Amino acid sequence: MPLADLMAEARARDAADPLAPFRARVIRPEGRIPLDGHSLGLLPRTTPARLARVAEEEWGQGLIASWNRAGWIEAPARIGARIAPLIGAAPEEVTVCDSVSVNLFKLAVAALRLRPGRRVLLLEAGDFPTDHHVAESAARLMGAEVRAVARDGIADALGPEVALLLLSHVSYRTAAVHDMAALTAAAHAAGALILWDLSHSTGAVEVDLGDADMAVGCGYKHLLGGPGAPAFAFVAWRHQAALDQPIAGWMGHAEPFAFEADYAPAPGVRRLLAGTPPILALAALEEGVALVAEAGPARLAAKARALGDVLIAGLEAIGCPDLRLVSPRTGRGAHVTFAHRHAWPLVRALDAAGVTGDFRAPDCVRLGVSPLGLSFMDVVRAAEILEEVLASGAHLRPEYRAVRAVT
Ligand SMILES: Cc1ncc(COP(=O)(O)O)c(C=O)c1O
Repeated sequence: MPLADLMAEARARDAADPLAPFRARVIRPEGRIPLDGHSLGLLPRTTPARLARVAEEEWGQGLIASWNRAGWIEAPARIGARIAPLIGAAPEEVTVCDSVSVNLFKLAVAALRLRPGRRVLLLEAGDFPTDHHVAESAARLMGAEVRAVARDGIADALGPEVALLLLSHVSYRTAAVHDMAALTAAAHAAGALILWDLSHSTGAVEVDLGDADMAVGCGYKHLLGGPGAPAFAFVAWRHQAALDQPIAGWMGHAEPFAFEADYAPAPGVRRLLAGTPPILALAALEEGVALVAEAGPARLAAKARALGDVLIAGLEAIGCPDLRLVSPRTGRGAHVTFAHRHAWPLVRALDAAGVTGDFRAPDCVRLGVSPLGLSFMDVVRAAEILEEVLASGAHLRPEYRAVRAVT
């Protein structure tokens, strides 16, 4: 379908979009189409005032009394409970702390301790680097080993030596979605535990952790928690009493304010906490999670799927033989990845033309369709801008080909 027809269709879809009112509830940079919500989500309108209130009133005036009076001490559990229904978990199974990387480490070590005698951490080759780095480090510490296998070989690689299968539900690169129920069942049939990385899932695709053992997820992408937002962690109820995580700190102690010399872990998922919760960052995350919860995971997932379909139709309408779709057409999260031999200068030229996407080496452009703050018109307009950039050769200008900076 030509781009002009897609634009007419987008107008109709926007008029019928039940999530359209949410676009006014996030701040968007003027004149820019932000297709990078899979990397850093938009700023909810309520967040700056909440941060000011926490700083000026709760911190400035309340000082340490705010740990109780302003509910600071409850924040990890309270926000975890709000995330729980977004991932098919019970409120007591989720908490918020540290980064995804740190939580992966804690849970990988804990999983090896829950499965003594099994020495393999099984991962998908090419998954997000931090998952591999952390698994390698946990394995080194525990005298275990990491095995990384191709996507289609995961089920066959499960065996009696595997303690834990660690997988991203949505691939950071291609947005392909794993069959969570099937892989969880396969891991359990082999006697292994499963740990899902939901960084690209929560707020973007529907998640039902079902029988899964553990999960982690990112606060700063589709949950709109802001740069470096704390992550969340899920431990199934049945594992909590035996969970022995390696960063035993006072906030995970059963009685932190008893100041006991000996460590006794908190009875529930709070044992994942180590140090003092970052209250300002948690306040920002709470605003994002509240907005996402109000929009509703099913509606967000349906819109992300539809936005991605429209973007793919737009890429096809451009008809450029150098553009190759890398993302799957179905079973896809909230970004669309395509390969182009000039991917890096193309991302920079798009940015200069008002479309923010990102580059993944060696040759991929990722365009996010985080559903809460985007319209269908945004996505078709982004495709039009891409067509203009390609047709004008703007991406071939020397200034865009310069050495790649960190993105
Ligand atoms: C799949 C995946 N896992 C983990 C991370 C890293 O999370 P953190 O920065 O919170 O450690 C990312 C970051 O983009 C990611 O995409």
